[in-house]
Amino acid sequence: MQVVEANDARIPLLGLGTWDLRGRTCARVVEQALRLGYRHIDTAEMYDNERDVGEGLRASGVPRNEVFVVTKVWPSHFAPRELLRAAKESTVKLKLSEVDLLLLHWPNPRVPLSETLGALCKVKEAGLARHIGVSNFTVALIEEATRLSSEPLVCNQIELHPFIDQSKVRAACAAHGMAVVAYCPIARGNAKNSALLARIGEKHGKSAAQVSLRFLVQQQIVVIPRTSKLERLTENAAIFDFALSADEMAEIEALAHGDGRIVDYAFSGAPKWD
Ligand SMILES: NC(=O)c1ccc[n+]([C@@H]2O[C@H](COP(=O)([O-])OP(=O)(O)OC[C@H]3O[C@@H](n4cnc5c(N)ncnc54)[C@H](OP(=O)(O)O)[C@@H]3O)[C@@H](O)[C@H]2O)c1
Repeated sequence: MQVVEANDARIPLLGLGTWDLRGRTCARVVEQALRLGYRHIDTAEMYDNERDVGEGLRASGVPRNEVFVVTKVWPSHFAPRELLRAAKESTVKLKLSEVDLLLLHWPNPRVPLSETLGALCKVKEAGLARHIGVSNFTVALIEEATRLSSEPLVCNQIELHPFIDQSKVRAACAAHGMAVVAYCPIARGNAKNSALLARIGEKHGKSAAQVSLRFLVQQQIVVIPRTSKLERLTENAAIFDFALSADEMAEIEALAHGDGRIVDYAFSGAPKWD
């Protein structure tokens, strides 16, 4: 499995997203993904599936040290004591002594970032997380967070697919040695509706979704596509046996536009922070 090196972490380029997967389906998809060669699983306290992810991990038989397990703390738990408790609870639900990467799920302006980052670093020092990072952080917040953190931040997990321009945040991550992890890497399934992605895919014997994923991994961006369908696990992983030409990359880059965002916290129906 190809990896991205980011500060002191080695993050597998392909991961499995698990948002909205629960119970038996979630455990089965995680188990099968690991059997197929996925080595990175993305979950979160908020997804309410950490128990199921842990179950799939154990059922796969893949040794623990070969899998990169990521979870996230929800913003309502960013006060230091709460953050420590939430991190501990995540490891208990996953039945793991530590996760590989713990992220702040969304910024929370109501808790000083210095306090939250202090607690996040303590979680790492306490051995509950091998690495720490952030998600949905803007350029300004990346600058602030990297200044405040005593431990390296290894990634920023953001919405990224061919229809959105995240070049400024990506540049800020690069400047601080942080990996970019793309969520919604197939635009919640919408990649298949793009005539351009489909046409390029046809040339390579690949689907539009595979072209969307290849476009990202070819730029060393980590992707975490989610599927509830076992057959799509294979499809989404078959992105390392072809390459897009410079012209094709440029054509796909031109798809990005100003209102390409799918996930907006304010309208996502997510639970309130406090
Ligand atoms: N940090 C954050 O704030 C944040 C926010 C959103 C997501 N995430 C993470 O990122 C992961 C991925 O994002 P996402 O789940 O929102 O979107 P996504 O992975 O871009 O798309 C998932 C959707 O695409 C469909 N799909 C999967 N493979 C396909 C294929 N080969 N062809 C056509 N359709 C396909 C899936 O349906 P089927 O199930 O029917 O295959 C599902 O409806 C999440 O699961 C979560 O782990 C993080």
